[in-house]
Amino acid sequence: MDKITITASKTYEVLTDSGLLARAGQLIRQALGDKVKKLCIVTDDNVNKLYSGPLQQSLQEAGYETVLFSFPPGESSKSMETLSLLLEFLAESQLTRTDALVGLGGGITGDLTGFAAASFLRGIPFVQVPTTLLAAVDSSVGGKTGINLKAGKNLAGAFWQPSLVLFDIDTMKTLSYDLLLDGAAEAIKAGAIADRELFSYIRRADDLTDPNVIRHLSSRAIEIKRQVVEADERDTGVRQLLNFGHTIGHAIEKCSGFSISHGHAVAIGMTIVSRASKNLGWSAEDCLSPLLESLNQFRFPLECPYSASQLADAALKDKKRMGDTITLVIPVHLGDCQLKKIPVSQLEDFIKGGLL
Ligand SMILES: NC(=O)c1ccc[n+]([C@@H]2O[C@H](COP(=O)([O-])OP(=O)(O)OC[C@H]3O[C@@H](n4cnc5c(N)ncnc54)[C@H](O)[C@@H]3O)[C@@H](O)[C@H]2O)c1
Ligand SMILES: [Zn+2]
Repeated sequence: MDKITITASKTYEVLTDSGLLARAGQLIRQALGDKVKKLCIVTDDNVNKLYSGPLQQSLQEAGYETVLFSFPPGESSKSMETLSLLLEFLAESQLTRTDALVGLGGGITGDLTGFAAASFLRGIPFVQVPTTLLAAVDSSVGGKTGINLKAGKNLAGAFWQPSLVLFDIDTMKTLSYDLLLDGAAEAIKAGAIADRELFSYIRRADDLTDPNVIRHLSSRAIEIKRQVVEADERDTGVRQLLNFGHTIGHAIEKCSGFSISHGHAVAIGMTIVSRASKNLGWSAEDCLSPLLESLNQFRFPLECPYSASQLADAALKDKKRMGDTITLVIPVHLGDCQLKKIPVSQLEDFIKGGLL
């Protein structure tokens, strides 16, 4: 079992292994102590069919009373409506301050569960059980929780750290290749900001479906997320480095009406920023070639179907914009990114320099 300890406003472990669902009850008891009596599993309807049976059995064997809340899969469920249904369900199920939630699923489930845990009875514990690679390498660690508003994504939420993260890599077997790619993009991003060794590893590891590759990518990415979250839990400084490729990635997602998924869009975003930075002499070495090599190794589609002006327009409507400047994450060396503010008026030209 791989173990990474996160020391933020709460100290907790991220455990990675195969067969963890069957051991979840016992591991949760170790992490939460004997006070917790009742657990609410929160999951979406896809993951419910696949994994809530074994999880529930393991929790019950460890002596927990369990209830289950399942919602329709998809981003539209990360909403005030689902949050409200979930909070009412918790109240009807009579969960108390000493009970806890278990988010079983991808990033949508984790974000929703975490926000419900942060707000129910002014805050109860929760456990993350990520079942997508994206959730394992990114969203389940670090305590950012939240939902979307009609005005935009992730506009309501809370910093609320989980008490434990359990990543059972066996759950990756049922994930589509596209969803594996979404997670791999975030792992490659983590490598670009703090771990150049990851690129030489990927050069040798060509099969993303191999559990050993998944394990290595996730443990490196979680370790980097640990460092960043411990240095800046509330996202006012270095944590923003995790946005490498994201300003343009979000613009690509938006322009596509969200038919291009987040990880795929971030992969394209990272190549655009790296190419533009290279051309402007902002990168001290060539970061683009190893990045392209890694992305191509896993067969990422990297063509950007939008123009610089379409992307700049979409990016400037993003919430991360601050006044007349926009903060970009620039790869200075491979494995070392820095924040750079540029005037909003220069964004379109910057993107133009990064498009082929
Ligand atoms: N909180 C954070 O720090 C953070 C960071 C990055 C992303 N996010 C959020 O994460 C969300 C995206 O997460 P996601 O890509 O995991 O989406 P998701 O939760 O919708 O999961 C993707 C799809 O995979 C299915 N699925 C999940 N696990 C499966 C499995 N093991 N086998 C088969 N199918 C499975 C789900 O039912 C869903 O249809 C976004 O809302 C994003 O904003 C949050
Ligand atoms: Zn992301």
